Amino acid sequence: MLFVSLITLFYSTQVFASYCKMEDTLFSVGNYTCPDNYTMVTRIKGFYCLKVVASTLNQTQSEQSCMLENSTLASFENIDEVNLVLELSLVATNNANGYCWIGATRLAACHGPISDFNAGCLPVETNTFRWTDGFVTGTDAFSNFYPGQPDGGSGVAQNCIGMISTSSSWIGMTPGSFDDTQCGSTLASSHVCGQPAQQVALNCSSSCC
Ligand SMILES: *[C@@H]1O[C@H](CO)[C@@H](O)[C@H](O)[C@H]1NC(C)=O
Ligand SMILES: *[C@@H]1O[C@H](CO)[C@@H](O)[C@H](O)[C@H]1NC(C)=O
Ligand SMILES: *[C@@H]1O[C@H](CO)[C@@H](O)[C@H](O)[C@H]1NC(C)=O
Ligand SMILES: *[C@@H]1O[C@H](CO)[C@@H](O)[C@H](O)[C@H]1NC(C)=O
Ligand SMILES: *[C@@H]1O[C@H](CO)[C@@H](O)[C@H](O)[C@H]1NC(C)=O
Repeated sequence: MLFVSLITLFYSTQVFASYCKMEDTLFSVGNYTCPDNYTMVTRIKGFYCLKVVASTLNQTQSEQSCMLENSTLASFENIDEVNLVLELSLVATNNANGYCWIGATRLAACHGPISDFNAGCLPVETNTFRWTDGFVTGTDAFSNFYPGQPDGGSGVAQNCIGMISTSSSWIGMTPGSFDDTQCGSTLASSHVCGQPAQQVALNCSSSCC
């Protein structure tokens, strides 16, 4: 409840501080705006933009693809962002089953299998991977690993995370849950790009200022 109120307060401050119309859209609040086809979310560090792309590229190629539009693979600050990205992914892929690549990499000291994880990698859910988009606070969303994951694989390095993009269940896991997997996996159906929202000068001759 407190959390909700704080977000509302933050939102209202932004809206009242500036202009009249742009905040009606999903991609901009005040003079903060996201590029075309990106959706805005509110993070502790500020506004952030997310875009899910339907794609079977592997994780390395997906990261490069995001970089072409000055984004990186996006990380998650909380479960609301996970749910949003799952929804966007299902729309983008027409409900196809597959991994959605997200911005996280396994710490070098935490390579699997799980029986080899050292104390610094425990608990495995929060300490095995780190977020890479540079705009996330905390590790809340790491609680979304599917039970028993990350397991570090057996015999293969599983240094990337795929969010399970499915409408019911896929490879035995539930929609939106996380699985550690090979970065070269060809089982992706999408990836999520992200970048901080930019402040843009508004055009005051239009109806908004
Ligand atoms: C945004 O999406 C629309 C519809 O898919 C597409 O036509 C347009 O080219 C996209 N814009 C950018 C900048 O990618
Ligand atoms: C990415 O950033 C560079 C440098 O700021 C800029 O020149 C380029 O237009 C940007 N590309 C896109 C797709 O926004
Ligand atoms: C991803 O695919 C590219 C192109 O096939 C390949 O060069 C690269 O090694 C792959 N990445 C991984 C981690 O396997
Ligand atoms: C955005 O709005 C803030 C607060 O109203 C203002 O200080 C800032 O200069 C604006 N930035 C741009 C680029 O218009
Ligand atoms: C500002 O908006 C007005 C009215 O829509 C338009 O005629 C004008 O070209 C715009 N100016 C800029 C710099 O975009």
